[in-house]
Amino acid sequence: MRIVCLPGDGIGMEVMAEAVKSVAVLLPEARLEERPLGAAAIERHGDPLPADTLEACLGADAVLMGAVGSSLYSWRDGPNPEDGMFRLRRELDVYANLRPSTAGGIDLLIVRELVGGLYFGGRGVEPDGTVFDRLEYHPAQVRRLVRRSFELAGERRGRLTSVDKANVLTTSRMWRRVVDEVAAEYPAVEVEHLLVDTAAMRLVEDPTAFDVIVTENTFGDILSDVAAALTGGLGVAASACVGDARVGLFEPVHGTAPDIAGRGIANPTAMLLSVALMFRFGLDRPAEAEALERAVAAARAESPTADEGGTATTRMFGDRVVSLLRHDGAAVA
Ligand code: NAD
Ligand code: IPM
Ligand code: MN
Repeated sequence: MRIVCLPGDGIGMEVMAEAVKSVAVLLPEARLEERPLGAAAIERHGDPLPADTLEACLGADAVLMGAVGSSLYSWRDGPNPEDGMFRLRRELDVYANLRPSTAGGIDLLIVRELVGGLYFGGRGVEPDGTVFDRLEYHPAQVRRLVRRSFELAGERRGRLTSVDKANVLTTSRMWRRVVDEVAAEYPAVEVEHLLVDTAAMRLVEDPTAFDVIVTENTFGDILSDVAAALTGGLGVAASACVGDARVGLFEPVHGTAPDIAGRGIANPTAMLLSVALMFRFGLDRPAEAEALERAVAAARAESPTADEGGTATTRMFGDRVVSLLRHDGAAVA
């Protein structure tokens, strides 16, 4: 079992250090290989996604990513850390980004299209100085994502909300048609269409009303931060990026948090719960996923990090999870 770890930049490195410890306890036979990505890779190799990093990821059983980004490189048009991450997602063709949010009565799953749409369309500058970003999709790109979402909804509470802007965008009108076509294959799933502005409002007003939400890349990026805010914040929001190929990419929803990076206080929960998603969706090891989720929940209840009102440091939290896993070991085996 080969797992490639991409710590990335900022708190990505800090939370990855804790993730690695838990993987070592839960899956001692796994080989963990670290590779640079993002600003760290630009500085060492002049490329945010060096060939060696990509090759290692393509040959892995699963990839764990921290976060990328840096004030030095992120706001320029040249090759920046975020481009490296986009290229990686595209090379792995992990088109479905599963972003679950749970807390209290809320249990929703955002399925964000991850390798197309506005973030992947052509961008540039016209001769007259006009700057553009294109939003484009082929129906086949939408269909595979929508199918996946129906499958997931069928395994959950059987409700799928497709979010678009069909009153304005032609891509959204096509998106709706595809959803309605695919819906015929899944009669047991109840479907609704919502405009993205209304969806944002309804999400804040009554998040318990949602089961699975499927949407375009940018809409999903924004709505998943809203969902995170409603369920404990970015420090606890995990995600799984999956496609049809074997290797998945597992990453927290949050970024490099320059405001707290280097202080050792980031919450590693989002990263650890992404590891749990790796066990469940990437390695087919549900028992390990559950054990890790239990340990993380206990550590959060006992001694949370600052973002959740506590005083635990990143390392204290990670160590507590490891010690809980050691005691809970029998439950895994
Ligand atoms: P951010 O997610 O890094 O931080 C937003 C806020 O949430 C900050 O106040 C931060 O302190 C807090 N936060 C985030 N994660 C936390 C954690 N684990 N524990 C405690 N608090 C946490 O978003 P940003 O500041 O807008 O972006 C910073 C950089 O990160 C940018 O370069 C951006 O492009 C990048 N980014 C990368 C990814 C990724 O690699 N997947 C995701 C989002 C943002
Ligand atoms: C995320 C992030 C990235 C994205 C940024 C950093 C490019 O916001 O993973 O949610 O939009 O995919
Ligand atoms: Mn985001």
